[in-house]
Amino acid sequence: MKAHIVTLPGDGVGPEVTAAAVAVLQAVAAHYEHDFHFEEHAIGGGAIDACGEPLPASSLQACQRADAVLLGAVGGPKWSDPNAPVRPEQGLLALRAALGVYANLRPLQVHPALAALSPLKNDKLRHVDVLFVRELTGGAYFGAKTRSADVATDECKYSVAEVERVARRAFELARGRRHHVTSVDKANVLETSRLWRSTVQRVAADYPDVKLEHQLVDSMAMLLLTQPGRYDVVVTENLFGDILTDEAAALAGSLGLLPSASLGEGRRGLYEPIHGSAPDIAGQGVANPIGAILSAALLLRHSLQLEDEAVAVEAAVEEVLRQGPHSRDIGGHAGTGEVLAAVLAAFEEHAGNQAAFFSGARACG
Ligand code: NAD
Ligand code: IPM
Ligand code: MN
Repeated sequence: MKAHIVTLPGDGVGPEVTAAAVAVLQAVAAHYEHDFHFEEHAIGGGAIDACGEPLPASSLQACQRADAVLLGAVGGPKWSDPNAPVRPEQGLLALRAALGVYANLRPLQVHPALAALSPLKNDKLRHVDVLFVRELTGGAYFGAKTRSADVATDECKYSVAEVERVARRAFELARGRRHHVTSVDKANVLETSRLWRSTVQRVAADYPDVKLEHQLVDSMAMLLLTQPGRYDVVVTENLFGDILTDEAAALAGSLGLLPSASLGEGRRGLYEPIHGSAPDIAGQGVANPIGAILSAALLLRHSLQLEDEAVAVEAAVEEVLRQGPHSRDIGGHAGTGEVLAAVLAAFEEHAGNQAAFFSGARACG
């Protein structure tokens, strides 16, 4: 198939991990005879330096024309002055809003080979397989902001329609999994959460085969650590989802491992690892590329409908997590390039076997 993919490497380790993910997509294209065309654009701090704005119109237009967008990370100390007139993160938020990608899927699994890295005891990590569905284009991130000399406000606003569409996405996804949705809010305090809870409750009536439970976000932060194996799909608002998924990444062993897919109504999606620009390790060639590579696998699955290819990439990553080499954040010594090379080698092996299996099956049929 033909696909047009826009890459937005961004700042810090963004370019390092994006290059690895692109290399994997190129290997997929070569192996399965697809025609992937890549077009790179600026976003974030680099774009502010180059043209004064974090999301240049040319970058946004390219994303709107693309089949899928692959992003590294934005931000860093250079642009973090709290009084700066413009910030890299604004570019990412504007992009999410403009693409209408309101559902941010963040899958969490704990690989047995990495269980020792988790702050939790091994027995708690068995059967951890959670899909966070984070609302991505509403809430305090996008409400009106005010600032005077001694007061600042961020309005948190949600409409029924905004809650309903992300809730439906969560229930649909739960149908392909273990038929369980946990909706996380702060309905004992926040009006937006009370609207959230009653809307999710109403949507649930259309999915009688899916069990719904509600959980307050403060106790959810605790339960994620004490009973992580209990959860299937967790749906929550923008800010709670941001915080809970970094917490969840610690269970997996590193923030560098988790991918994400941001989806709207169509097939076009925005794919990015959940970590940031990691300024403390940027430029050293040691960033873990797995979160970015798994984001590329989600791109294959959700935007390009290439399920076999996505599974082959995930299987290659699984093998590298099992056997090494491992990057520093997960207890190894390998650099980004070494991990990438291992993933590519495992991919060639796995995809080769899969092709042999399918041609064998055809020969028999
Ligand atoms: P961070 O995610 O960049 O880093 C947190 C810690 O995790 C650091 O110790 C870092 O070295 C480590 N880490 C992150 N990714 C890693 C990887 N791939 N391999 C190995 N270790 C990794 O969070 P932060 O330091 O709080 O934020 C830095 C900047 O990134 C900020 O400007 C923030 O706004 C931005 N940020 C951007 C995104 C994004 O673009 N999607 C996401 C989160 C944070
Ligand atoms: C993330 C990041 C972003 C967010 C920032 C950089 C705007 O933390 O993707 O998780 O808060 O959504
Ligand atoms: Mn975050």
